[in-house]
Amino acid sequence: MNALSRVQINLLACTLLLGCTQVLSQDFEPLPKSAAQQGDTDEKIALGKKLYFDPRLSATGTVSCNTCHNLMEGGDDGRPTSMGVDGLTGPRNAPTVWNSVFQASQFWDGRVPTLEDQAKGPMVADVEMGMAGHDQVIGRIQAIPGYIRKFESVFGPSDAVTIENAVEAIAAFERTLITPDSAFDRYLSGDKVAMSDVQIRGMELFESTGCTECHSGPAFNGWQPGSDGEFVEFPRITDSTFVKKYDLISDLGRSNATGDRSDDHYFKTPTLRNITLTAPYLHNGRVGSLSETVRLMASTQLDAELSDDEVAELVAFLSALEGRFPEIALPRLPSRLGESVLQQPEAAKGFGDATGH
Ligand code: HEC
Ligand code: HEC
Repeated sequence: MNALSRVQINLLACTLLLGCTQVLSQDFEPLPKSAAQQGDTDEKIALGKKLYFDPRLSATGTVSCNTCHNLMEGGDDGRPTSMGVDGLTGPRNAPTVWNSVFQASQFWDGRVPTLEDQAKGPMVADVEMGMAGHDQVIGRIQAIPGYIRKFESVFGPSDAVTIENAVEAIAAFERTLITPDSAFDRYLSGDKVAMSDVQIRGMELFESTGCTECHSGPAFNGWQPGSDGEFVEFPRITDSTFVKKYDLISDLGRSNATGDRSDDHYFKTPTLRNITLTAPYLHNGRVGSLSETVRLMASTQLDAELSDDEVAELVAFLSALEGRFPEIALPRLPSRLGESVLQQPEAAKGFGDATGH
């Protein structure tokens, strides 16, 4: 609703006040080149990076954040739905962690507001990293002397190894996972040959078809700095043929988080940055190609049927949103001298429990 009224205001501004080109640029904004917060020191970021890549934070010692949010590629896992410890699969597609700082809430249903709160979830989710509880996570970290030293150096000597501090470090690292300087960003900043003609036509079509009603702002997800999470109905046109074909109704979305029936089938608008890298698509990962997803979106959200040429132009435009990825060197993880962390007395118990063996 809010998004709709914003578009109407834009149209009004277009006719009454401003040149339409200026209105166009309101919907299109470059990605910020930094998302660092005060206190995100290099040392804290480096600790967060170690934790992000460390599979020992999972029950089986095999699954890290990077397993499902692979930073060597699109920041996702390329699977319809993710596979965690013991090959267990969850119900939803893994969104990319690239640029996840640029959204007002986390998860498809926006059930947590911050990256810090988000990072607490996967370690103890049965189908993800499968730890019995945060105490067990902290126990694992405390069994590795190198980690204790790092935590104390970043957070001070007393009671440094806590879940709050661990997720603070992970979130600081995630705030570095941004991809500015895409062809589209360079085009916006005045480099008129950064995008091809077909990409420019796709950009115009993206706006005139109405995609920007939801996919607006620097990350194409409706987010603006400081904005609250907004959710939109998906599918909005429930008799679209795509609804049945890809089972777009069994996941109730936002209402799972709020318990409010009027939130049934509401979802967060996801970012379209680097969208060419993160197939398959949608919350259930059911749609394998970007062109089919674009066709589906037009049908389920805008009641519009696109020609093959229009789909191709939109996809060409979306490919211009692929950004510049920071170089990430694999971190060295602190290890134990000749002792297993997975078979610590207390960890061994959780190991057995969590895997059900
Ligand atoms: C087993 C696979 C798996 C692992 C391991 C995992 N995630 Fe995720 N992650 C997912 C899935 C699936 C979702 C979406 C779940 C939902 O929306 O209900 C998600 C959502 C997210 C989001 C929200 C992104 C958005 O656009 O809403 C972030 C951020 C994230 N994970 C970071 C992490 C971090 C940090 C870790 C490690 C502590 C981690 N994940 C471990 C699968 C995984
Ligand atoms: C009314 C709001 C709205 C409109 C209009 C809209 N979208 Fe979306 N879009 C969403 C939502 C919500 C989702 C997430 C759907 C889900 O939960 O699976 C989404 C998902 C997507 C995805 C898949 C993202 C992913 O990570 O899997 C693409 C691609 C996309 N939209 C492109 C478009 C294009 C192109 C248009 C215009 C033709 C458009 N959208 C119009 C709200 C909208």
